[in-house]
Amino acid sequence: MSQNASNALWGGRFSESTDAFVQAFTASVEFDKRMADQDIRGSKAHATMLATQGVLTESERDAILGGLDQIASEIAAGTFTWSIAREDVHMNIEARLIELIGETGKKLHTGRSRNDQVATDIRLWLRDTLDAIREELARLQTGLIDLAEREADTVMPGFTHLQAAQPISFGHHMLAWNEMLQRDQERLAQCRARLNECPLGAAALAGTSYPLDRHLSASLLGFSKPTENSLDSVSDRDFAIEFASVASIAMMHLSRFSEELVNWNSTAWQFVDLPDRFCTGSSIMPQKKNPDVPELVRGKSGRVFGHLMSLLTLMKGQPLAYNKDNQEDKEPIFDTADTLRQSLRAFADMVPAISVNRAALKAAAVNGFSTATDLADYLVRKGIPFRDAHEIVGQAVAHGVATQTDLAAMPLPTLQTFSPVIDADVYAVLTVEGSMASRDHFGGTAPNQVRAAITRARARLAAQAAQ
Ligand code: ARG
Repeated sequence: MSQNASNALWGGRFSESTDAFVQAFTASVEFDKRMADQDIRGSKAHATMLATQGVLTESERDAILGGLDQIASEIAAGTFTWSIAREDVHMNIEARLIELIGETGKKLHTGRSRNDQVATDIRLWLRDTLDAIREELARLQTGLIDLAEREADTVMPGFTHLQAAQPISFGHHMLAWNEMLQRDQERLAQCRARLNECPLGAAALAGTSYPLDRHLSASLLGFSKPTENSLDSVSDRDFAIEFASVASIAMMHLSRFSEELVNWNSTAWQFVDLPDRFCTGSSIMPQKKNPDVPELVRGKSGRVFGHLMSLLTLMKGQPLAYNKDNQEDKEPIFDTADTLRQSLRAFADMVPAISVNRAALKAAAVNGFSTATDLADYLVRKGIPFRDAHEIVGQAVAHGVATQTDLAAMPLPTLQTFSPVIDADVYAVLTVEGSMASRDHFGGTAPNQVRAAITRARARLAAQAAQ
């Protein structure tokens, strides 16, 4: 008879009840109940496998599966009573199963430990969540590619050092974002593939003496295979670290994207207008329309980077195999997933509704002397060494700055004062459109190259959705 009134599932060897504060301090049910669905799926697979192996009878299996189904409906209906006295999601569900079906419920935990159970649940949870995250990301990518297509011919200044550098296509700029997000997609897919192995059967750490079929458990749960090593199965959380790392890179990308949108949407730049429904007003300044969504996403990147640090620190001192430290993996994993998913959702909704101010973009490209490199290249084609051409164009730009005149607006005689080789044909290279169209190679900003890149980007996205 258990001496520990507070925990009937493991109280046998205890001579006093758990301290009330310690019980609350060590309980995880408040957060790990998010894995209830995965816990039930894992238990059903385990019971099914035990019956196949003759460890449970078919009628015992059916009673367990029926009880677990009922628990799932109680949880869905909000009538399930969660108790911190039962510590975590696993023991809450198991204790309820015993309440519902009696003695047979006590057989579910045969050949299993919470150590392999929790390792299975969190992998299942992350796998489900990764799929949802990848869908939001694909939706954002589709929006970016569509926007790139609409604005393939739109000229804007490309920047280095936040100074107007060379004219580029707005669509080309959108596709740069898509490349980053495409790599995030691939990293998420690789993370999913690596974590998709089933720890069930590792039990506490050493495996079990029951004749389990670990391959069957794995396949019932859609895992690619059982984990190789029982110790590693219950102690490894590097899949969580990998996820936080991949999520951190994705959030870093969204944060950079946000920074640009905040600049572009500002009253000083006016490159784009973010739809009202993604902005908020000021309680004191009636004229304000603040880009809150990108600002918040930029800010939220910090908590995801923090979770990566938490998880690395959580693991670094742990001896093999399972330690209670690992219970601390849940909240960082959940918050990382929630933050990334919500940020992607907000961006996927917002991007298609961005309105592009083509006139402001063109004016910025023209005002920034962004065709200076084109003039230098023109001089080189007329036989002038590049270093001398650079110097000549520098003088022309200085004149333009002093007289507030763009290179394309200078009369031919003025241009010829900088170099006699300049002819009337120079104006073809001085327009921002001409400059943009001349970068006409794979990966370049010429609108026809942008359109070709859009076709490739769409094909990649479709191939990955079909996987
Ligand atoms: N709540 C625990 C966790 O999240 C479950 C595993 C507990 N195992 C144990 N031996 N105490 O890691």
